[in-house]
Amino acid sequence: MQPPSSTVDVDRLRLPESLPAAQQPEWREHVAYDEVCQRLVSAPPLVAAAEIRRLRCSLSRLMTADVLLLQGGDCAESFYECTEQHVAEKLRVIDRLGDRLSELTGRSVIRVGRMGGQFAKPRSQAMERHGELSFPSFRGHMINSEIAAPLTRKANPRRMLWAYDASDKVQREMRTHRRGHAGMPAMEGPWSSHEALVIDYETRLVRRDQDMGDLYLTSTHLPWVGERTRHPDGAHVALLASVANPVGCKIGSTATPDDVLNVCQTLNPRREPGRVVLIPRMGRDLIREVLPPIVRRVANAGHPVIWLGDPMHGNTVMCDQVGLKTRYLTDMITEALRFRDIIEEHRQHAAGLHIEVAAGDVTECIGGSVKCEDDLLRHYSSLCDPRLNVAQATELIEAWAKGVATRRA
Ligand code: PEP
Ligand code: CO
Repeated sequence: MQPPSSTVDVDRLRLPESLPAAQQPEWREHVAYDEVCQRLVSAPPLVAAAEIRRLRCSLSRLMTADVLLLQGGDCAESFYECTEQHVAEKLRVIDRLGDRLSELTGRSVIRVGRMGGQFAKPRSQAMERHGELSFPSFRGHMINSEIAAPLTRKANPRRMLWAYDASDKVQREMRTHRRGHAGMPAMEGPWSSHEALVIDYETRLVRRDQDMGDLYLTSTHLPWVGERTRHPDGAHVALLASVANPVGCKIGSTATPDDVLNVCQTLNPRREPGRVVLIPRMGRDLIREVLPPIVRRVANAGHPVIWLGDPMHGNTVMCDQVGLKTRYLTDMITEALRFRDIIEEHRQHAAGLHIEVAAGDVTECIGGSVKCEDDLLRHYSSLCDPRLNVAQATELIEAWAKGVATRRA
């Protein structure tokens, strides 16, 4: 166990041990823990500070230039899907959806993948029951295995190194893709993003940039805090407050205007545009009552946030009949349109959508050719939450874009 400290040093960020950190794996007593942490501290950055600055600069111009933002990818990335071919397929999907959004709205679209590090998952239930047995839930490949057995679900800190290597492979492919994309402005990406969940991992990938002197989280371009870890006095928000990356924050239906304002103050005390992306994910019905007072409070306080709608995470339902989680496309479209309307009614910029979408032709959400719960069984391969397939994601984006185009015409 490292000594408690609140100091920041050049090589790494030490958050005070006293800060509450929700959703952390219990692995500090593991024999490999210290060595893994040492290796991470001395590992090269996965993304360069200059790239992070470029994204932040694009995001800072987003509101005035009327640019849109699309963030999408797997709920949980798999170690086994980091090959050149897998990454190319995922990037093709993000590009296709971004191009469609751009074509329908006449606006440029900054593209951000949920990829290159999306290997850790917060869970509502710490344990899972399998008949007579009960063992830890799957928490993403950075922590344990999806295979349902007591041993494979034990948290293993070596997985942080495997996650680093897997991220490195994906980041290299993404970099090649950014360079090789003739005709597309470099600002449009694709950039990487993930939920900065595992404090042991993320704090060890904070580096001070020699050119500018700022600290950057070099595990990704755009880290976000999730609904379960967005507490303004918690370790996750403290981590993101310490670095100069653009940062996201999910906000669920229990968030109050005060909560959200506190997070904005902590993450962006100087109210810099392009720094904070707020991502409401409240559910089709609750968004109508919960979001408006939050938008008012944030806007009145002069916080220049980027509003990005996540129509997925507040609309998850369990299908008991087939024992799988799903989401209805109609619910997601309804929430996405309500999100856009609420933001625009408050004269703010509805920047775009945050979605979970698969590269393959999966049947995890209901809509389009996936007509009923039985159809889910055809091709359900998500490691965590149900993802849209490309046809479903296109339908969602088209519905959202139509309103944007007509409203601003
Ligand atoms: C997610 O994005 O996969 C997720 C867990 O989101 P949230 O924090 O909004 O629940
Ligand atoms: Co998810």
